[in-house]
Order: sequence, then structure tokens, then C-alpha cells
Amino acid sequence: QLNVIVMAGGKGERFWPLSRMQWPKQFLTIAGNRSMLQMTVDRLRKFVPLSHIHIVSHVNYRDIVRLQLPELPVGNLILEPVGRDTSACIGLAAAKISNRQPNSELLVVPADHYVEDEEIFIESIQKGRQVLKRSRGVVTLGIKPSYPETGYGYMQVSEAEYDRILHGYKVERFHEKPNRETAETFITKPNLYWNTGMFLWHTNTIRRMIEQYLPDLHHGLEIIRPVLDSSMEQAVLEQVYPRLPAISIDYGVMEKADNIYMVPCDFGWNDVGSWGALDKISERDPFDNVIQGNVINLDTHDCIIHNAGDKLIATLGIQDIIVVDTEDITLVCSKYRSQHIKELIQELKRQK
Ligand code: GDD
Ligand code: MG
Repeated sequence: QLNVIVMAGGKGERFWPLSRMQWPKQFLTIAGNRSMLQMTVDRLRKFVPLSHIHIVSHVNYRDIVRLQLPELPVGNLILEPVGRDTSACIGLAAAKISNRQPNSELLVVPADHYVEDEEIFIESIQKGRQVLKRSRGVVTLGIKPSYPETGYGYMQVSEAEYDRILHGYKVERFHEKPNRETAETFITKPNLYWNTGMFLWHTNTIRRMIEQYLPDLHHGLEIIRPVLDSSMEQAVLEQVYPRLPAISIDYGVMEKADNIYMVPCDFGWNDVGSWGALDKISERDPFDNVIQGNVINLDTHDCIIHNAGDKLIATLGIQDIIVVDTEDITLVCSKYRSQHIKELIQELKRQK
């Protein structure tokens, strides 16, 4: 049986001022009427029973997760006392699941991505499971890049080496978050794909790889492992977890490992990394605006206007502008600068 872990502990600054530390992106309803987390779980439930879906998040988000996913079994919510990035998150969840079910097949997915075609998504996962069965390594889902994104990982495959027995590509190199120049050369090459941050592997493989590439993390997890699901779990987690190395699975494992495989996918994927990305995933009005909430506009084109309150937002004669209104903060931003909101938050912190 396939188990799934949904990584939902990110702090998410990119949808500021709607997302805050208290309410990050995965819990927001950015498009449609369900939050990113709810949509992720809805999608997974089409091929995995809820009893096999596990959410990993920070203790502070316990109530939000419970509120958004009231049917989730209590034991399937794994809470970290502090965020130690995705290697620790995956290692902890894998330890917990393997205690309950030895060497289980595991799908790891982020809680905050948009998937357009769910049928193709499910087909791709099933293809990935076939590759996993034959390879026993790590199987990733790759997407053909459409522009030089520097916020993603890239996977370099050898086109000649499409493995007819495995039905997947062997990944020759994994490059996490290249600089602009490198990303620009990557997108000209046919054998480089975006990493969607979704992985298929077995819990034993995760344990072995963490032992090999992140020995400090491995030692910490081995202290935690025996007390998981016991009355001592919380106390030991609070002791050990904050001292675990904080490194993402991409830098910590994927860049070093050699038995990585990739299934090329095309299900309309978007990591929804900024307000500007809403354009690609939301319904637009006849003037290409993406509007949410109480808004009236005239001669307004290509804008994103998100009104979280009851006050009316009225616009006239503007183009390529993002307006986000919340109770205490209003953001007005050029559509071309929405990637830089983190800088604005830095500035805000400096001035406080
Ligand atoms: N539980 C938990 N704890 N979850 C976490 C933590 C943590 O400490 N840190 C991050 N997450 C969750 C985030 O909420 C998100 O769902 C997921 O893990 C990935 O983390 P991000 O911080 O969003 O990673 P990224 O977007 O910079 O990069 C990754 O995703 C890209 C695709 O969107 C990498 O895997 C890239 O290679 C990939 O291209
Ligand atoms: Mg992300």
C-alpha cells in the first residue's frame, strides 16, 4: 500500500500580506474555494485512502490543519516542535510510518502546489510507482521548463538513456536552485527538467540515504525512532529535534544520491510561488484581471486584485498592478515585482 506524506510546514512569505507566519500559503485559499492544503488532500484522496495520508507541520499549525481537514485521523498529523527543513521533515515522517508498516512505499508531496489535470497527475504517479518497483531508488516527477526559474531544482537526464525496462530516465545530475545564468542555459537544453519536489521511494531507502548523506540527522532520528507513538514522543522530539541539521532534501540528499530516476510529466503544474503566478492558475475576467472579493473596476487590465475584507476596492485605468487588501495592510505592487516581496518584508523588519 502506498503511504503519502504532505509537507505543510513552510513559513511562506511570498503571499504577504495575506500569508503571515500565523497563516502561511498552504492554508490560504488563493484560487477556487479550498485552501492549497485542502486541494492537495482532495487530489490525493482520489487514489489513496485518507488513512494513508499523513500531514507534517509545525505544532503552531495544529489547529489550522484540524480545522481544514476535520476527517484526518489524529495519528496522521505529525507535528514538529520547530521547522528543520525538508530532510528532517521527511526523515521523521518516514520513521513514523515505517514503525507502523515496515518498508512502506512512500510518496512525498508539498502542500502548496497547483495541479491542473488531476487525471494525468494520477497517471504520472502510477507510472512513477512502476519505475520505483523496478529501480528501488528514488523516483521524481519532472516537468519541461518553460522559462529560466531560479527557485526550482533542475534534473539532468541522459536522453539516450531512457530506460526501456524501467520506463523512466536515470537522473545524471540534480541541480538545486541554479543562478540566473545557469538557468538560462538549462532551458535551452532538451534534457533538463524541473523538479516538482514530489518523490516516490521506500521508507528503508530514505533511512539509508539519510544515514549515508546526512549522518548527523540520521543519529538524531535514531534517538527519536524508538519513542515514536509512545507517551515520550513529544518530550524527546522537543529535546532532539531543534538540534537536527536544517537542510532541504534537495541539497542534502538529491544532489548527492545516484539512484534517482525521473518520469517526465505534463499535468499543468505550478508551484504558485508569488502573486504574479495567480495569472496562470485562476479564472480571469474579459480584461485578463484576476479578481477576488469586493472589487469594482473600469478600464483595468491584467491586474490581480485580492480583497480579503469587506471594504470596496475601486480601480480605474490601471494595468499590470497587484492590489491586496487585508485588515491591517494594503499591498500595491507592480506585477513584474511580485517575486521580490521578500525584500519588502526585510525592509519592513528593518524599519520596525
Ligand atoms: N513540515 C515541514 N517542515 N514542511 C516544510 C518545512 C519544514 O521544516 N520546510 C518546508 N516545508 C514544506 C513547504 O511547506 C513546501 O510544501 C515544501 O516543504 C517544499 O518547501 P519549499 O520551501 O517550498 O521548497 P522550494 O519551493 O524552495 O523548493 C522545492 O520545491 C521546488 C518546486 O516547487 C525543491 O524541491 C525544488 O527542487 C523544487 O523545484
Ligand atoms: Mg515551494
